[in-house]
Amino acid sequence: IGSDKMLDTVLLSLDAEAVGSLKEGVNFKKSTEDGKCYIIFKSNNDFKACKNQCKHQGGLFIKDIEDLDGMTVKCTKHNWKLNVSTMKYVNPPDSFLQDELEVSMLDDGGLQLVELSPVDPWMADPREPLELQKGEVKVTYFTHACIELQLGKRRFMFDPWLKGPAFARGWWLLHEPPADALDRLCGADLIYISHMHSDHLSYPTLKVLAERRPDIPIYVGDTSRPVFWLESQVKLTNIKVLPFGVWQNIDDHLRFMILMDGVHPEMDTCIIVDYKGHMILNTVDCTRPNGGRLPQNVDVMMSDFAGGASGFPMTFYGGKYSDSWKAEFIKNERKKLLNYKATLVKSLQPRIYCPFAGYFVEAHPSDRYIKDTNFKNSAEDLNALINKLAPAIKTWTPQPGAVLDLGLALRDPTNREAITNPPASAKIYKDSWEFDLYVNELKSAIKSDIFKHQNWIQFYYTWAGFQNYNLVVRVIETDDKFECITDGYDYLVDFLDLSFPTKRPNREHSYLEIKNRIGVMRYVVLHGCLWDDLYIGFQNRISRDPDIYHHNVLDRYDTNHCSAKKIWPDF
Ligand code: FES
Repeated sequence: IGSDKMLDTVLLSLDAEAVGSLKEGVNFKKSTEDGKCYIIFKSNNDFKACKNQCKHQGGLFIKDIEDLDGMTVKCTKHNWKLNVSTMKYVNPPDSFLQDELEVSMLDDGGLQLVELSPVDPWMADPREPLELQKGEVKVTYFTHACIELQLGKRRFMFDPWLKGPAFARGWWLLHEPPADALDRLCGADLIYISHMHSDHLSYPTLKVLAERRPDIPIYVGDTSRPVFWLESQVKLTNIKVLPFGVWQNIDDHLRFMILMDGVHPEMDTCIIVDYKGHMILNTVDCTRPNGGRLPQNVDVMMSDFAGGASGFPMTFYGGKYSDSWKAEFIKNERKKLLNYKATLVKSLQPRIYCPFAGYFVEAHPSDRYIKDTNFKNSAEDLNALINKLAPAIKTWTPQPGAVLDLGLALRDPTNREAITNPPASAKIYKDSWEFDLYVNELKSAIKSDIFKHQNWIQFYYTWAGFQNYNLVVRVIETDDKFECITDGYDYLVDFLDLSFPTKRPNREHSYLEIKNRIGVMRYVVLHGCLWDDLYIGFQNRISRDPDIYHHNVLDRYDTNHCSAKKIWPDF
């Protein structure tokens, strides 16, 4: 990524005898040198190979006993399935491709698995770290994923969400931002926004910025789905879209580069900031930041940790989705996430680690059920685990307004002066959120003229354009308690031919029933917003038969509208 130079690394060598013993179909192999595992698929005398490492969160594959063709392996962590003969994931269906390794056949009958990878871009033009003075580099935590870096004379802000809800009305700030947070945002020298999700790209916050400082430089990665996809929402005039993996020199001492995510390269990014040879790595929400290749021994690393950032499984009903099943599932998932993050941090050995980007709460009273059941990891638990696994790494769980002085912390991690906590009188947790202001704005969409005409349905789904997929969806508009309402729409969409039947077709098909809160649904339709607002924001309830994840439908409606043309001009 971002470099033309490629490195060839031989990961596994097999001699002629070992090659001869490979059976047709899937073979699991372990390197005797480093214990790492690989999968080799043999078909006649053709070989395909990959690391035994799931694209999702690095889980290990085993033979899939349900697969009769012998081509599929199953991840032991969350059951993703990979067809090794095509290197395509089959669960989630039509989703990802596995990265393949080169198989080179040797003259003596042996073979080698070779990884071709770009030279790590942050190694271009390396800098020797210079000593930092007290007060020269300060890291201030604001809220959620919003951090301010003071680097010499400049101030660099990440992902400012300081006002209003995210994901329609589903997420609200847990922490009270410092009183001067908006002023400091508007006075920053540069801003990085990692991706389009509204807890990072916060329109209520950016509206304030656009009014006070429209020309502030805002940096985003060149993702195929643009970060600023609803440009008309705010008038910011200096958005810089950057290529991945290239140092951006701000001055003699400060530079940064944006990297992409390995699982969602179309939308997720992360960042490395280098000041006087000291690196700060912020992996934000990336599932597999930069495909798993990251700098080791950075001075500060920060990442998400909490989980709970999706409607699954709390918004699902019917079938296995009892409260006890959900509770058990959540418990296990959170534990796996905690271990994954702790292992990643341990392997990268930053000097200081800070968990962040998980501080939201489902505060609106109508989302009480979600708030009470959607447990998240605590930053303290993750830090305790890291302290156990890697005691040399200093961990930091900041409160809003807390400041880390990097120069002091690097010189002596035990120096209490290195961290300044907010005064005891400072408010840490929010206790009021202006619910009505934001909820009424969403609800104002209900009365829009377009909904007086039944054919808005056809117009909308034709605009979105997704079809040729054997799925029928029933969409029901509901009140806040997900009860049907008399004047709400209740309709079917057949995505095979994009028709709108009055009853389910006789052919075999996958079926989804989605109950959406009317205000949020109509706002999403009216403005061509992403269905993320409904799904990640807990604004719907979903039942599916069979119980499978339709990656391409959600992909289309959750993240892809941004490439579509304007909605409603000719309606
Ligand atoms: S399914 Fe493989 S790590 Fe999650």
